[in-house]
Amino acid sequence: METANKPVAVVTGSNKGIGLAIVESLCRKFSGDVVLTARDVGRGESACAELLRQKGLKPVFHQLDITDDGSVRRLAAFLQSEYGGLDVLVNNAGIYVLAKCEKSPAEKARITMETNFFATHRVCQVLFPLLRAGARVVNVASGLGRLSKVGNESLQEQLVSPQLTESDLLGMARDYVAAAANESGDTAPWPADSAYSMSKVFLIGLTRIQARDVTAARPAHSILINSCCPGFVDTDLNEHRGRLTVEEGAETPVVLALLDKESPSGQFYKNTQVCEW
Ligand SMILES: NC(=O)c1ccc[n+]([C@@H]2O[C@H](COP(=O)([O-])OP(=O)(O)OC[C@H]3O[C@@H](n4cnc5c(N)ncnc54)[C@H](OP(=O)(O)O)[C@@H]3O)[C@@H](O)[C@H]2O)c1
Repeated sequence: METANKPVAVVTGSNKGIGLAIVESLCRKFSGDVVLTARDVGRGESACAELLRQKGLKPVFHQLDITDDGSVRRLAAFLQSEYGGLDVLVNNAGIYVLAKCEKSPAEKARITMETNFFATHRVCQVLFPLLRAGARVVNVASGLGRLSKVGNESLQEQLVSPQLTESDLLGMARDYVAAAANESGDTAPWPADSAYSMSKVFLIGLTRIQARDVTAARPAHSILINSCCPGFVDTDLNEHRGRLTVEEGAETPVVLALLDKESPSGQFYKNTQVCEW
């Protein structure tokens, strides 16, 4: 079947957990193809096979490791050649290094920031040129990424400043990783041992800047970019301590993926509603 110009949605990290539930919901609600992506081809293909076997749904599979630039570029080339663009991008892939893991706070900060913030940012850099008019981008953040988690008031002021650029934010994120690597354990002015929170603070900050800049560059295109907290969801990420089902966790990201064009951009959502950062 001819797929060029057919609408297409991509969900990162969607072989399991909330991402898989987002794919399932989009397969039912989005009028186009839904691309289930996974860093491991076996895990991704078996998730697709299960969706077909159990629910009769047919997502398209494509490999994607968000920390591998070659992998991100291969996905972009696939989207360009098969669909000629991109209509929905859900940046869901993320990690949480459990407290019992024997990594140092510095190593936790490095790997958590690399996946949750820097790699997500690079996915956006590569895929944003493909966004068609009317596209939606959803950055799956967390309530743990609230601004108050930063503590230091001057840093909070910088993060909310309307003048803050993407490059300023990347600089702040690198400063945080450098501070977290300080062997003395003094991470000032950044909070100590809070890598996951900080990765989501930066992701929410990035969302605000992306929304502002994309709207300025393409004012007539109604591209909406928002972040959200899916809630505390029962997944591998938190060793199944979460209370919500993955279907409940997928609800807000899916609402944002399908927002109508009068909706806001650059906002942080929780329980499907705009919420203060
Ligand atoms: N669960 C919660 O309570 C909760 C709360 C707030 C926010 N979140 C956020 O929701 C998102 C989904 O989390 P979840 O709870 O569904 O976690 P999960 O069940 O652990 O799933 C995470 C997904 O991300 C993938 N992933 C990790 N690193 C990747 C990489 N480098 N490239 C591509 N995919 C990668 C994983 O793939 P593998 O299977 O290969 O590891 C997996 O498919 C995350 O961003 C998380 O921070 C979750």
